Amino acid sequence: MDRESVDISVKMGNLKLKNPFVVGSGPTARSVDQIREAEDNGWAGVSLKLTIDPFPYLNLPPRYRWLRREKLHIFTAEKRLRPEESLKLLEEARKATSEILIFPNITYDGEDYEGWGKLAKRFEDAGAHAIELNMCCPNMSFNLQATGESTTKATGASLGSDLEELPKVVKIVTEAVKIPVIVKLTPEGNKIAQAADVSLKAGATAVGGVANRLGIPDIDIWQPMGSVYRLQDQITLGCLSGPWIRPLALRDTYEMRYYLGKEPFILGSGGVSDLQSAVQQIMVGADAVWICTETMLRGFDWLPGMIEDLKNYMKQMGYSKIRDFRDILHRNIAAADELKVHDGYAVVDLNKCNACGLCWNIGHCPAITHPNDVTTIDAEKCLGCSTCVDVCPRKAISMVERVAR
Ligand SMILES: Cc1cc2nc3c(=O)[nH]c(=O)nc-3n(C[C@H](O)[C@H](O)[C@H](O)COP(=O)(O)O)c2cc1C
Ligand code: SF4
Ligand code: SF4
Repeated sequence: MDRESVDISVKMGNLKLKNPFVVGSGPTARSVDQIREAEDNGWAGVSLKLTIDPFPYLNLPPRYRWLRREKLHIFTAEKRLRPEESLKLLEEARKATSEILIFPNITYDGEDYEGWGKLAKRFEDAGAHAIELNMCCPNMSFNLQATGESTTKATGASLGSDLEELPKVVKIVTEAVKIPVIVKLTPEGNKIAQAADVSLKAGATAVGGVANRLGIPDIDIWQPMGSVYRLQDQITLGCLSGPWIRPLALRDTYEMRYYLGKEPFILGSGGVSDLQSAVQQIMVGADAVWICTETMLRGFDWLPGMIEDLKNYMKQMGYSKIRDFRDILHRNIAAADELKVHDGYAVVDLNKCNACGLCWNIGHCPAITHPNDVTTIDAEKCLGCSTCVDVCPRKAISMVERVAR
């Protein structure tokens, strides 16, 4: 297959994304310069930073932590946009760019749901290519509820996990605008697939997962009242993102695809930062991915290299379009009662082993002993679990399948 025959575009409703990569809503999608830079580097789309109308009830300058060792990003404090700011941003960005698709990410927090429709319409009139409903942010009313604060608000993750109220909002918005409506959903509440389903039935063109979970950040046990954030007094529940969250994010996409079937357009997100993590999202069911944390850490200019890698990968694998490998892992993920395991045991290569002793201490292992400091594995007692292979820093242990005698 030649390079030209590889097509990485995807179709979302009547919109064509030239590739499956969209800058996820967040701090790298709030200025014309950022959007222009994203376009220059080949991003298919950009989801603007959240706009809240009326004025956001939680709105502070950003305080972030990137825990490099854990590959975990975490934040609470964050600045949202007012409608006037984001409408101006959208209009200016449309003039400054020619092909990048722009999706405002919105929350209406007024008295009645009609306001959602009116807000969406203002963005449609200002030139939005699609509207993204923020049914995902766990850092607003959901955070307040989780920390025991009383609130009458229901925005972001609170509304997005309410299967009765969510479709009412989606219906109002889809009736108010002609452009595609994307519903960005939360995994909090464990109902992401059902929430995606009711959103599509209410008229949404596409659904997606935010991946963010609320967590408690690493706490210094010697100063337990101190905040891990710089320039911030208290410890708060934090919104987790980045590579650390990948396995959970893959599950979110998988659950949506499994529940919704083949047709609906799904955007995945959560720790996508390279070819491997992008392809994994597609393989469990995503048509496109939002990428946020990696753009915060590295900007936009690494995408052309990844697109090149993706085309080469597809060529080598014999895939001519994204749909050729979308869902393939999804189909192969077995239910727990279908599992088939092979009988086997671990063996050690004493030429590689330096008797460091790490595998000697594995708490559940009945097979490893070390007479005279020589690592010895009793194949008859071995459970075949393979923990020792992962523990050994010298790659001295491997698994052998037991053949029937
Ligand atoms: C600092 C920060 C701010 C974010 N703000 C928004 C937002 O305003 N609206 C939204 O829908 N998602 C928001 N997100 C979620 C991201 O768009 C993305 O879905 C999520 O972080 C998982 O992807 P990632 O690991 O690539 O960041 C934000 C994420 C981060 C880290
Ligand atoms: S595979 Fe499991 S049981 Fe067997 S030697 Fe290794 S750690 Fe022990
Ligand atoms: S962990 Fe590896 S190197 Fe260390 S004792 Fe075990 S087999 Fe040898």
